[in-house]
Amino acid sequence: MPFAAITGWGTALPERVLTNHDLESMVDTTDEWIVSRTGIRERRIVGDHESTTSLATAAARAALEKAGRTPDEIDLIVVGTATPDDFLVSQACLVQAELGGSAGAFDVGAACAGFVTALSVGSQFINADVYHRVLVIGVDTLTRYVDYTDRSTCVLFGDGAGAVVLERSTEKRGLLSTVLGADGAGYKHLYVPGMANLVPESADLFPEYRPYLQMNGKEVFRFAVQVMGDAAAAAIAKVGIGFDQVDMLIPHQANLRIIDAAARRLDLPRDKVWVNVDRLGNTSAASVPIALAEAADSESIKEGDNVVLVAFGAGLAWAAGLVRWGTAGI
Ligand SMILES: CC(C)(COP(=O)(O)OP(=O)(O)OC[C@H]1O[C@@H](n2cnc3c(N)ncnc32)[C@H](O)[C@@H]1OP(=O)(O)O)[C@@H](O)C(=O)NCCC(=O)NCCS
Repeated sequence: MPFAAITGWGTALPERVLTNHDLESMVDTTDEWIVSRTGIRERRIVGDHESTTSLATAAARAALEKAGRTPDEIDLIVVGTATPDDFLVSQACLVQAELGGSAGAFDVGAACAGFVTALSVGSQFINADVYHRVLVIGVDTLTRYVDYTDRSTCVLFGDGAGAVVLERSTEKRGLLSTVLGADGAGYKHLYVPGMANLVPESADLFPEYRPYLQMNGKEVFRFAVQVMGDAAAAAIAKVGIGFDQVDMLIPHQANLRIIDAAARRLDLPRDKVWVNVDRLGNTSAASVPIALAEAADSESIKEGDNVVLVAFGAGLAWAAGLVRWGTAGI
């Protein structure tokens, strides 16, 4: 069976930084509350000149450059996102419109678990020997659906994009296991009630209506602590290795307390857990690929390392996988 090695990676972040101190002047909150409850200190927020498409395209270009590939060498583009710029045209097609090429292009909807789910989908096209090179992107601009008068949600989220290039390898590299799960009955703990006024025409029709993210924080927290540890442990077990053979955990960056709980469950020391939630907040589907790219850029992961990815989010859905890092066998 061919394997799907990760040969390139890249990220893109909005220019605007929103700090906890900025939020103190917007809602009834404090830097101390936000840091102690979430670990977040600042996040990036899209401006008028930025979009899901612009971030995803910039991350994709960086990943292609790292892999030494051009868009016309890519067979398939899979995008994990919950915030596409258009509801009819897939975000993957909007990215392709910018990049060029004629690869197959479609989206995967699994909210914050979107990138890990898309990585699993994209890898399987290579594992099945259908395609040789796949571009996988995780991107979200969730702050467009955040109510900046609601202190219980507006402190949590940021925007961003991360991308990887997958290439056919004869060595055991890339995603070696996948664990997907969902609790659809719990969807009302984290959802956006309709998005009717996304386009200006709809805003005129429904002037009072705002499609803001709704969240039951305590329920999501409880769910997250449970599934992050369980899904990561299952992904490791599927490859037949022990927790002590894990070199790096790349968890979804929603809350430092949730990340710490997952690390404890796997018995991993802090230096084997990637954390950027303090700088970026929860970037939804972008959080895992951004963290993975940071770990790779800082050479914190190396050829042959076992890297565990795990994410959870709206759905309620979760996704985990074990990646063997490196480009052997390309
Ligand atoms: C949201 C979250 C940080 C809240 O932390 P918590 O410890 O559960 O806090 P609580 O909900 O108990 O709130 C405690 C109090 O702080 C208040 N509070 C909420 N947000 C606040 C803020 N930004 N600043 C100050 N106070 C705040 C609440 O109103 C509550 O006040 P009350 O007791 O007077 O009602 C936490 O539940 C969480 O992270 N949940 C998961 C959310 C998540 O990850 N979502 C995305 C999934 S992809």
